[in-house]
Amino acid sequence: MGVMPPTNDLRQRFADARLRTDELFALVRPDSLFERPVPERHRLNFYIGHVEAFDWNMISTCELGPESFHAEFDRLFAFGIDPDSDSLPSDQPADWPSLPETAAYCRRVRETVDSVLDEVPDDVAQTCIEHRLMHAETICYLLHNLAPELLLAEAASKSAAAADCGEVPQQWIHIPAGEARLGRDRGSGFGWDNEFGARTEDVDEYWVRKYKVTNAEYVVFVDEGGPQPHYWRKAGDSWLLRTMFGEVPLPLDWPVYVTHSQAAAFAEHAGASLPSEAQWDRAAYGSGDPSRRFPWGDGRTSDGCANLNFRSWDPCSVLATPAGDSAFGVSQLLGNGWEWTCSKLRPFPGFEEYDFYPAYSSAFFDDEHYVLKGGSQRTALQLARRSFRNWFRRDYPYVYSTFRLARQG
Ligand code: AVJ
Ligand code: FE
Repeated sequence: MGVMPPTNDLRQRFADARLRTDELFALVRPDSLFERPVPERHRLNFYIGHVEAFDWNMISTCELGPESFHAEFDRLFAFGIDPDSDSLPSDQPADWPSLPETAAYCRRVRETVDSVLDEVPDDVAQTCIEHRLMHAETICYLLHNLAPELLLAEAASKSAAAADCGEVPQQWIHIPAGEARLGRDRGSGFGWDNEFGARTEDVDEYWVRKYKVTNAEYVVFVDEGGPQPHYWRKAGDSWLLRTMFGEVPLPLDWPVYVTHSQAAAFAEHAGASLPSEAQWDRAAYGSGDPSRRFPWGDGRTSDGCANLNFRSWDPCSVLATPAGDSAFGVSQLLGNGWEWTCSKLRPFPGFEEYDFYPAYSSAFFDDEHYVLKGGSQRTALQLARRSFRNWFRRDYPYVYSTFRLARQG
């Protein structure tokens, strides 16, 4: 059918995913690995242990032979945290195992996992790979918030200059009434629990912006008193953007990274709204072949030159879309920044938890988390499937989250 990339060997895919997280920790000065760059998350050292303990915790539910060799670390590193900003963690570096202890645990987990990999059920193996790939993005948010001098000097050299593509010709695009297809059918390949319970939803006609909202558009809002994006800093009369490895003058044709609250406030100010999950799906995929991986092209193996799949550390112009637009002419629906929707993360009808990982989504069906679609430059290609749903709290400011405007009439 040619809709999925050729399935690589499982071991190779584990190895590739491990490289993705290894390369991130390798950017940090070793004496900075107990820093907590994001107050709502654990210290960096936790994530070193977490991505390994997670694999082992999942795989050990399959009872393939090897016994746990460090139950205490299995539990300590099992789950991350997502408090609201009123109940931040207060643990100290000394509360954690040392880095050599953690490294020894990680090495042994990898060996143990590798020794049983051939017998691991597919759902569990995919869960491990995709979990790690998601953290390859979330750990990047953490490093982005680390004081730059705490990264190794080589990291700064990765900084890319922003090429300005010029004035962005924003326009509204009419999306005719039709059906959105949310979720996917069981038995149609790996998905996370929240993707199942496929259903169609009727979407009324509406209008959506061709391009993501840019820094240039958002700066006008800030100058009128709108809330300032987390990665912006005012220096004299001009705005700077904190990119992954340093500050640059605000690139006007890049998409703006904002929280859900900021996006919603901008939309309201503009007399518009954020698209719902169903509206976003219509704009991206129309009524097209539901098995098509991408809104454009034949979607076979390439990422269509979208700013996706670790292609760069930072976003690029909203005009840089060599792969083309969706069937309706909407640009950059995949890559260059996740897009907020106005939909809260809720289960689709027929939702069921995975028994090996019950709380993956259900812990977040609390009406505090909103769905994002698409993907960023730090999102693995494999996660950029139609049914994939990302989510964060409405005021969590650290993520590569952008938006586009929608309106009803
Ligand atoms: C789906 C990205 C919101 O990072 O909080 C990682 C993914 N869940 N480990 C998160 C996740 C458990 C999750 N997001
Ligand atoms: Fe995790």
